[in-house]
Amino acid sequence: MTKMVVTPWEVSGDIDYEKLIKEFGTQHLTDELIKKLEKEAGSSHFMLRRKVFFSHRDLDVALKEYDEGKPIALYTGRGPSGKTHLGHMLPWVFTKYLQDALGANLYFQITDDEKFLCKPELSKEKTKTWAYDNALDFIALGFNPKKTFIIVDTDYAKTLYNMAIQIAKKVTASSAKAVFGFTNETNIGMMFWPAMQAAPCFLPSVLEKRNVRTLIPAAIDQDPYWRIARDVAPKLGYPKTTAIHSIFLPSLAGPGKMSTSVGQNTTIFTTDTPEQVEEKIMKYAFSGGRGSIKEHREKGGVPEVDVSYQWLRIMFEPDDKKLKEIYEDYKSGKMLTGELKAILIEKIQKFLENHKKERERARKNLDKFILKD
Ligand code: TRP
Repeated sequence: MTKMVVTPWEVSGDIDYEKLIKEFGTQHLTDELIKKLEKEAGSSHFMLRRKVFFSHRDLDVALKEYDEGKPIALYTGRGPSGKTHLGHMLPWVFTKYLQDALGANLYFQITDDEKFLCKPELSKEKTKTWAYDNALDFIALGFNPKKTFIIVDTDYAKTLYNMAIQIAKKVTASSAKAVFGFTNETNIGMMFWPAMQAAPCFLPSVLEKRNVRTLIPAAIDQDPYWRIARDVAPKLGYPKTTAIHSIFLPSLAGPGKMSTSVGQNTTIFTTDTPEQVEEKIMKYAFSGGRGSIKEHREKGGVPEVDVSYQWLRIMFEPDDKKLKEIYEDYKSGKMLTGELKAILIEKIQKFLENHKKERERARKNLDKFILKD
């Protein structure tokens, strides 16, 4: 076991999601609450059924208000430090379902300022370029341009900065240190920066000039920001933001979040070619198979640790029946690792083939999504 580290800037080690719920002080996403969400949404989603989203803050409050006809907005985002990979898109796929199902406005923050401040090697020009590049991957998922608003921080600074200073005034250095682990070596831009990610939690209320509660679908590493935002909300007269948290898509190499810094080969980018997809999965996807075909047939594989199976479960095989068949065939030894990998490779190649087309189309529509002030 390698030590678990989960902060907004670093995710590594073997991740214990139960422990995270305790440490972060979030709530379990119970079956009962999932049913309530499905009822309000009018449909189910495999990421809920499989507990890919497993934790929340006040989702029950958001659903109750939604049921009463009160306004709600969705908020999520992306830190543009490089190419988009499949793990980044996991919460966005679910966000698309939520937006369609709830008919809510959606705010998408792209934090080029954050990545400039926290990555010594990145220039301001570079993070801005990545911001508009990554936006294409988000738009490509088919969000409704009339209800979806993309914020690129340095290009929406007037509004965000004016909100952020109000938030920042209510957050002490000792609480920022406790929540984010800042030290005296942290640059002062970073110390202030959490106020910028908290600002969109209240932006719908500001823009619509009435109380709009936000619901944030995001991976759990972003939760520390919501803690800060929820603390200051009553002090500023806004509704507390609510959140629904996902697990991470594991790296091809095995447990721990898929991270570009671990290596280009354990990550699949949205711009990878079909050949690259095949090569990466064949060569690098951690396998739950046995040492020899004979042994595999006898003892069966271990889908619980097999990354290809996990990717199918978490993101790429929405059909429960098909997934169950794969699980059983692999576990019994009927299906070999190569066959399992071939299923995943085909799924991802198809997904990316379509995604790349949509990504190109998105270039023409980019302007319709970008919020300007
Ligand atoms: N800090 C996030 C990242 O580095 C980007 C982000 C901004 C975000 N606002 C968000 C992510 C809201 C999820 C939800 O990726």
